[in-house]
Amino acid sequence: MTDVGRHPKIKLMVSSEVTDVKGYVGNFTVKVHKTARYVDEKECNACGECAKECPVSVPDEFNGGFGTRKAVYQPFPQAIPSAFLIDKKNCLGINPIVCAKCVPKCEKKCINLDVYDEDHTFQVGTIVVATGMDVYDPAVLDEYGYTRFENVITSLEFERLISAGGPTMGHLVRPTDHKLPRRVAFIQCVGSRSVKRGNPYCSNVCCMNTVKDTLLIKDHWPEVECKVFYIDIRAFGKGFEDLFKRSKAAGIAYVRGLPGQVQEDPNSKNLILTVENTETGKVEQHEADMVVLSVGVEPRRDSAVVRQLLTLSKTPDGFLMEAHPKLQPVDAPTRGVFFAGCAEAPKDIKDSVTQASAAAARASILMSKGVLSIEAVTARVHPDKCKMCGLCAPVCPYHAIEFEKGKKKPAFIIEAACGGCGTCAAECPFGAIEARHFEDDQIFAQIEAMLAERPEESAVVFACNWCSYAGADLAGVSRLQYPPGVRLIRTMCSGRVAEKFILHAFKLGAPLVLVSGCHFADCHYINANRWTQKRVEKLWDKMEKAGIRPERLQLEWISAAEAQKFAAVMTDVDKMRRQVTQAEIAQTRKILEEKPKL
Ligand code: FES
Repeated sequence: MTDVGRHPKIKLMVSSEVTDVKGYVGNFTVKVHKTARYVDEKECNACGECAKECPVSVPDEFNGGFGTRKAVYQPFPQAIPSAFLIDKKNCLGINPIVCAKCVPKCEKKCINLDVYDEDHTFQVGTIVVATGMDVYDPAVLDEYGYTRFENVITSLEFERLISAGGPTMGHLVRPTDHKLPRRVAFIQCVGSRSVKRGNPYCSNVCCMNTVKDTLLIKDHWPEVECKVFYIDIRAFGKGFEDLFKRSKAAGIAYVRGLPGQVQEDPNSKNLILTVENTETGKVEQHEADMVVLSVGVEPRRDSAVVRQLLTLSKTPDGFLMEAHPKLQPVDAPTRGVFFAGCAEAPKDIKDSVTQASAAAARASILMSKGVLSIEAVTARVHPDKCKMCGLCAPVCPYHAIEFEKGKKKPAFIIEAACGGCGTCAAECPFGAIEARHFEDDQIFAQIEAMLAERPEESAVVFACNWCSYAGADLAGVSRLQYPPGVRLIRTMCSGRVAEKFILHAFKLGAPLVLVSGCHFADCHYINANRWTQKRVEKLWDKMEKAGIRPERLQLEWISAAEAQKFAAVMTDVDKMRRQVTQAEIAQTRKILEEKPKL
């Protein structure tokens, strides 16, 4: 951080919040709101004289509430810039000035209570999102008594407690009597790996953090007994298994089973843990002087704001979703945006540093080139055909379409921002958007060729390039059999499948049409397949009203790895195709000839 703070080409904006991001890769406009610090960060040398004079005392957030701080304070000892700031919320009064005792105490005259928040606007080419994570709040798990018993603390609070720069100067004491605890119990997976009690995913860092803490205790206070209650210890990573073995060899007791209840002896303030030991199958009771809850990692509570600003999507766990989990693990689906650290998934320090380096490298590749090569498959608007209805703009997952209602200007696609899913082209009722390489004429021609002879023997399947079509490929190389009566048309995304293609297939006598794409959250184009679903649902309604069986239009999500599912779905599709009678096909054709758009 010190290097970052001193780097001539890095502008560090602390106490600041990004309020708006507009534009696209190479051309982002970012608005930042900077909260007034009231202490000149360039002049302040963090001598601390001002804090000595401050009459306000509030719990110190950095030390988990174990200590106090003043209203004029340095957030933590290694904070960059190394300068104090005034916490406006707790200061006795800045506007109007009430106390101001700190001002004359500053020899360098860096405190000025007469400053205001500022707004800044920057032009940037790329953005790295490193918004970090939050920790699980164990207050909701009442059985552990975190809010009732003072000697039950979280792993983060424990970190501060044993830190040399912490509130006890690194002395391990239990909160109630400030004496060295003789027995410390660690409970793992608090808020992790449980659907009903927290989050279903593994938080990645808690096991090794506990192993490290137990070794630290044994190094400094060998007489302290430690017990770890766990489901299983996940010690993957370089040197971690050795560390775990060292911890066991040092005498740490590992009990397989999570306590169902923690109770407190009101006199001694000791804690009784009731647990089913899953190795012995017996219910046991263990006494401890102090309990440390190994809390899991969660996405930032305000991550929805970042998602909205940068048009990102999230995984089912709530972390930000990368463009591709294997091939583009640091890229966001929005071009020019990259991820570093826990914003994308729970990570330890090493993985965060690795990802940050990768993100910086990815960003600098783009910037050093100075030019951008864009996808060949992008969309463009034919201004002469555009009726300015504006239906295309909201469906674009990349916000790449410029359109303002009432401005009487045709929609315009920023090609540098366009991902090429074709959803806009599918949505345009006037055929004014051309999806390059997947144009209307090309898709119509494929449908016509497919149904030119004995159409009743073919089911038309639209498969997206990245998942369903890749699933078909895998089914092929895995030699899985599926009926020859299903015919595939590849589109980049299922979002490209327009209503008119489906109706055209029915009009030409197709007994069955299947639209298939990636599972939700897997769509290569952020969330374009949500529009696929909406469009198909709308068409089902229309078909029903017009007297066409909606079952003849199927929708399936098949991933690239699901070759077996692909083969099974195709077999079902072929079965359904056979059940459609000639009379039904003829009736549908008649309906569509009379009313082509239903
Ligand atoms: Fe497969 Fe969008 S890329 S559905």
